[in-house]
Amino acid sequence: MTTDPAGPTATTAPATAAGEAATAPAEAVSCTGLTYAFGETRAVDGLDLGVRQGEVFGLLGPNGAGKTTTIRCVTTLLPVPAGMVRVFGHDAAKERMGVRRLLGYVPQQLSADGGLTGRENVALFARVFDVPRRERTARVDQALAAVGLSDAAERLAGTYSGGMVRRLELAQALVSAPRLLILDEPTVGLDPIARTGVWEHVNAVREATGMTVLVTTHHMDEADQYCDRVGLMHRGRVRALGTPEELRRGLAERKGTDTLPTLEDVFRDVAGSGLDDNTGGGFREVRSTRRTARRVG
Ligand SMILES: Nc1ncnc2c1ncn2[C@@H]1O[C@H](COP(=O)(O)OP(=O)(O)OP(=O)(O)O)[C@@H](O)[C@H]1O
Ligand SMILES: [Mg+2]
Repeated sequence: MTTDPAGPTATTAPATAAGEAATAPAEAVSCTGLTYAFGETRAVDGLDLGVRQGEVFGLLGPNGAGKTTTIRCVTTLLPVPAGMVRVFGHDAAKERMGVRRLLGYVPQQLSADGGLTGRENVALFARVFDVPRRERTARVDQALAAVGLSDAAERLAGTYSGGMVRRLELAQALVSAPRLLILDEPTVGLDPIARTGVWEHVNAVREATGMTVLVTTHHMDEADQYCDRVGLMHRGRVRALGTPEELRRGLAERKGTDTLPTLEDVFRDVAGSGLDDNTGGGFREVRSTRRTARRVG
């Protein structure tokens, strides 16, 4: 594992060189020196990150760490003003459509329309993402089945529970059969059973298709249980990176203790007092700040 305050190095594979051909990329996502500022605020500040093909990678961090901004650069919704972002070898700055075709994205904000049925919502995404017309009906059915919403497909999304809404958004992202699924806080505001439901559906699709998953979450227990590797992000950079086990054992070794610390302990160690600064509160506060259930009007 790596806990270099200047950024992770040891466990990341070498970034793809700028001039290298876009064939046989080593990584699903590769960010090198990514920097993005909103005015004076450097939301992302020289971020290096490598997500391996086929893994579930968790990007963790407190409010304002820069997770969503990073993800929006990867999805090409934001430009890449400085540094390099590649998705399966495609340059996000130069090949925006090529990148978009490879990914499914569930944003932090609501992306389902409460006035449409579940099926209509997924069908809309199938059209937007250019699923061939003759395949659309079957693919929409498949996506709804993959998230356990076949029986609720004809109901208005506005009548869904928070967990169902999140699974509907998952179906929207899956309908284009993405190689990379990006989930920005997929379980925020959900009860434990609904959270497990979201993860089980993600994992089932991943096992069936081999897709790569990049996810942000504030739930350290989820990251511990479901992510192959995690990057702990703070103030615009990844400050530590490894498997949850590596990170926890690394802290135990540094502290000289036999008791295995939690991932939250690791994060507190890496981010130090910065967790309580004006970037917006720690993990405990943030868990209660949003409620998915009231997001559909
Ligand atoms: N549209 C915007 N305009 C101005 N500042 C922004 C904008 N979006 C994000 N920021 C700022 O950029 C920084 C990083 O925000 P970002 O949303 O990427 O963090 P995050 O890690 O996703 O946080 P959260 O856990 O709350 O979702 C914060 O300081 C935030 O206030
Ligand atoms: Mg965010």
